[in-house]
Amino acid sequence: METSAAPAITVTAWPGCAPRLLGDEPGRAREDYATYRAHGGYHALVAPDALFDDVERGGLQGRGGAAFPLAVKVRAVRDNGRAGRGAVVVANGEEGEPASIKDRWLLRHRPHLVLDGLRLAAAMVGTHRAHVYVSDPASARSVETALTELEPGALGDITVELWTVDPTYIAGEETALTRFINGGPAKPTDKPPRPFEAGVGGRPTLVSNVETLANLPYLQRHGSAGFRSLGTSLSPGTFLATLTGGGRQSGLYEIPHGLPFTELLALHGISADRVRGALLGGYFAGLLNRGVLDVTLDHETLRGLGSGLGCGAIAVITDDCPVAVAASVLAYFDRENAGQCGSCFNGTAAMAAVTGALRDGAATAGDLARLQRWSVTLRGRGACATLDAATNVAASLLDQFAAEVARHLDNACDACRVDPFRAERPYEVEAVVPA
Ligand SMILES: Cc1cc2nc3c(=O)[nH]c(=O)nc-3n(C[C@H](O)[C@H](O)[C@H](O)COP(=O)(O)O)c2cc1C
Ligand code: SF4
Repeated sequence: METSAAPAITVTAWPGCAPRLLGDEPGRAREDYATYRAHGGYHALVAPDALFDDVERGGLQGRGGAAFPLAVKVRAVRDNGRAGRGAVVVANGEEGEPASIKDRWLLRHRPHLVLDGLRLAAAMVGTHRAHVYVSDPASARSVETALTELEPGALGDITVELWTVDPTYIAGEETALTRFINGGPAKPTDKPPRPFEAGVGGRPTLVSNVETLANLPYLQRHGSAGFRSLGTSLSPGTFLATLTGGGRQSGLYEIPHGLPFTELLALHGISADRVRGALLGGYFAGLLNRGVLDVTLDHETLRGLGSGLGCGAIAVITDDCPVAVAASVLAYFDRENAGQCGSCFNGTAAMAAVTGALRDGAATAGDLARLQRWSVTLRGRGACATLDAATNVAASLLDQFAAEVARHLDNACDACRVDPFRAERPYEVEAVVPA
């Protein structure tokens, strides 16, 4: 095992749950092959169909943002692959969300857990073609090393290719990923086709987030009932939550779905009294006001509030003004969109301009009415969901922080007048290991 480096963030599992993803020593620099093997990793898979049944019964949902059931995608890719020229699997570790660190943590610290999951996914869809897609150089180095450590046959007949892309918000979108591996720019394409129909090399392609794949070795060992022993019936299992904001060092926590948000806050060391709200799902799912203190962290609860868990990144808003936070996130989308769709290119710029003016106390009632209209009419208009993320931020600001918005119409709030919150990448997580 390699010596451990002090992490720049807190990494731990909720005390009530034995870690499935973080492993027994979250503080270690990188788990090597021998250590992973000694703990039962790369266990021989004799019956891929039996594992598929466990994935289906276990209800494992994607951890990349949309919480789509993995079994549904596996079945489609497997069947499409059998009907044609075979399938492909890709571990998506690009992690374009600046406020999220979970995928990079897994790749840097537990690369064999991810490769083991990738091997199991490849077996379920019946292919030997596998790829790992990252943008973080430390993750790429870690995976490269892991691949050289493998004993012959550890992955069966699967060959793994590693791809490193320049980091952008959109490079992790699944059609941007397949386009890049196929030799193009890492920018989304129109759908259909989606990768499960035609992706890498035109073959049916399973694109799965690395945290999703990292759950498969546990499912192989403990079955669907073991997997469901934590979490809720609709959001089974544990997940990795990245917590930022609140003036605290960021944290990466493995927690069971359904945990009250206040318990995660307590673990992180932020007093509920200080909380004004939170930004959910990285930058994707928008803002919640102090009502966030009443939620449990599962997909069904957050969707019921018009929000979402997304990739599990939660930024806690304490002293920052929510209007200024929304303005910064929308300015980020204005800069980071792929510039391919007029509605996204122009829409994010317009929403960023209005929220920026609102932060500065310079917006009019007419501006606000336009923002309200755009937050509804621009939804679903882009080739990818970036524009939806921007409309989520705008709509939730207006809905959840109506009093703050109204106050800013008269003039900026005290905080925004004196020293407004401005960040190019709001609540970005600092690096876990030295570069
Ligand atoms: C703009 C945009 C960016 C995305 N970025 C990522 C990303 O960085 N990592 C990721 O796993 N999924 C990302 N996704 C989701 C992927 O398109 C895809 O749904 C996901 O990788 C599938 O994995 P899962 O089913 O395991 O969640 C993004 C989606 C959108 C719309
Ligand atoms: S919706 Fe926006 S980010 Fe997505 S492809 Fe179109 S321009 Fe690019």
